[in-house]
Amino acid sequence: MTEKRIVLGVTGGVAAYKACELVRLCVKAGIAVDVVMTQAGEHFVTAVTFQALSGRRVYTDLWDASIPNNMAHIELTRDATGIVVVPATADFMAKLVHGRADDLLSTLIVARQSTCPLLVAPAMNVEMWQNPATQRNAAQLRADGITLLGPGKGDQACGETGDGRMLEPEDIFRSIQALFSPKLLAGKRVLITAGPTQEPIDPVRVITNHSSGKMGFAIAAAARAAGAEVTLVCGPVTLPSPIGVSRVDVQTAREMFDAVKLHVGRSDVFIAVAAVADYFVVDSSKQKIKKDGSGKLLLELAENPDILAYVAALPGAPFCVGFAAESENLLEHAEAKRKRKKLPLLVANLAQEAFGADDNHIMLLDDAGTHTLPRAAKTELARYIVEKVASAIRRQP
Ligand code: CTP
Repeated sequence: MTEKRIVLGVTGGVAAYKACELVRLCVKAGIAVDVVMTQAGEHFVTAVTFQALSGRRVYTDLWDASIPNNMAHIELTRDATGIVVVPATADFMAKLVHGRADDLLSTLIVARQSTCPLLVAPAMNVEMWQNPATQRNAAQLRADGITLLGPGKGDQACGETGDGRMLEPEDIFRSIQALFSPKLLAGKRVLITAGPTQEPIDPVRVITNHSSGKMGFAIAAAARAAGAEVTLVCGPVTLPSPIGVSRVDVQTAREMFDAVKLHVGRSDVFIAVAAVADYFVVDSSKQKIKKDGSGKLLLELAENPDILAYVAALPGAPFCVGFAAESENLLEHAEAKRKRKKLPLLVANLAQEAFGADDNHIMLLDDAGTHTLPRAAKTELARYIVEKVASAIRRQP
């Protein structure tokens, strides 16, 4: 049996003491841990502590002559299931963004294979976390496919309170365990719609809505992480593509419909997250519409195709998941929508809570009933929805 192993990077923050507990949890669960410390990390906890807890040598130096071929920066990660940096300082995050490689930990991260996941648990003072440079770096790391674990909120070692507190070792350990879990959607093809659509009125004006695309993009990333081949058809959004996902950009609902028709034949799962405009403007003007002095503008609207209903009614349809964004009577409207579109699974949320936010409060509706989830980050909800879909298709005849 191959050994379960991770590389744990420890950088220079006071939360380094929590990395000790994390090593203990991993070892107890049969996961071998190769600890790699930065020089700053060694100011907080000694290598001896990690050596005692992991039962393995601890790496601190890029130029360690005792390593036979001096290639620790390559070999340490090759059979590892992932690299986890606990804690990650603001400085280390900035280094990762730029691909710097001036010590063992940063070098082995730059030298890792694209299949080796990198998880980073930021820990810093609230002002450091909220600093625009750190926020830019966090966004860039996410865009590069690196998973940020937290940070959480709360009391900080410096005496201040707020965002930047490292997640607890148990929470980080759960993410490490997930690295070893089977790829739930391996071999499956998942088609996802996301974002708003824009319906032109004339060359400079559109009818659209406030959808940011965040939920759909999070589901695409989660499905990819679960091993699926993912195609993401999205309306106009400003989000970077999740790594490894094939993206098709569209503007209007009819273009989205065409793209879905093109890809749906190969799909095992269809997840309609897009907030598709219900109507388009009939004969939208080729030239900018000028005011005519009448004090009003009449537009003739016609209904767009219902993409989800079309897919759900196809012979041999993929497993279909719908979303319902309602402003009132959530459950009632959502269940009616699920029945009308004949969906095995529907995710319901309040539009005013969901649109644009990084977190959400959702309910899942299926034949077994309704299941309300606690408010959580869209990335976390996405993982849950993907797990739910995977277990539903496993149960399918
Ligand atoms: N949907 C779709 N194509 C449309 C409209 C909606 O694929 N033309 C999908 C959405 O992606 C979502 C679900 O259908 O998964 C519900 O969308 P919603 O707009 O909330 O519902 P509608 O069916 O449009 O009903 P209503 O506008 O009356 O609430």
